[in-house]
Amino acid sequence: MIDQQPIALEAYENLAQDYANHIDTKPHNAYYEQPATFSLLPELKAKKVLDAGCGPGACTEKLLNRGAEVLALDVSKKMVELAKVRLGDRATIIQANLSQPLPFLDSNSFDIVFSSLVVGYIKYLEPLFQEFYRILKTSGVLVFSTQHPFSDFLYYNSQNYFATELVGTTWTGFGEKKVYVPCFRRSLTSLLNPLIKVGFKLDSMIEPLPTEEFYHANPKQFQELMKEPLFICIRAIKL
Ligand SMILES: C[S@@+](CC[C@H](N)C(=O)[O-])C[C@H]1O[C@@H](n2cnc3c(N)ncnc32)[C@H](O)[C@@H]1O
Repeated sequence: MIDQQPIALEAYENLAQDYANHIDTKPHNAYYEQPATFSLLPELKAKKVLDAGCGPGACTEKLLNRGAEVLALDVSKKMVELAKVRLGDRATIIQANLSQPLPFLDSNSFDIVFSSLVVGYIKYLEPLFQEFYRILKTSGVLVFSTQHPFSDFLYYNSQNYFATELVGTTWTGFGEKKVYVPCFRRSLTSLLNPLIKVGFKLDSMIEPLPTEEFYHANPKQFQELMKEPLFICIRAIKL
């Protein structure tokens, strides 16, 4: 089954500039999710990496700085433009929809697929993970992060943990603009089983804790995150 509609496209077109302005210092990303997700990556020097859902290129830049050769993609034209402004010709950056197959990427051609906070916008994960599996070399590594199923279940006051539900919330943390961002809330089973079904070995996972920098930026939210996870970070290997 293929989900043709990029549900969050309009939201991210609206948010793109504000997102770019704040992503390097927004505590939930810079001092919480990113350190955890990046800690799951292997050595990157001279490795071919796909940054799937690159946004304005903040993570792409970190991958490049660690020596990777990066192809970055995003469905949002504005995000792609901002990533190009940020990174110039250091990476190849293209517009593409992860809800559809990626025939322009060769099979067995990447060492690593990296995707920070994107799979929550994709309805059907099995075809996406199938594509990631196809383009990875044998022993290649998939590292991704997404909303934590447990905290989403509480946050969205869901009546059915096991259902995959289209939910959404109005973001207020990226500057003045208030933008409603839709996403999919799903169970842990619905997140992980598609990985295993397409052939990945689940290798490691992190329920992140906020870093010391987070504490200095926002002590109250630091205490909250010490008691309840917001994201989950996964590493899987192509067997
Ligand atoms: C929360 S942002 C994360 C951006 C970047 N990975 C980061 O961590 O800064 C989510 C990104 O996913 C992109 N996105 C959402 N749906 C997508 C899709 N179907 N295909 C490709 N990118 C998508 C959005 O445009 C947005 O840039």
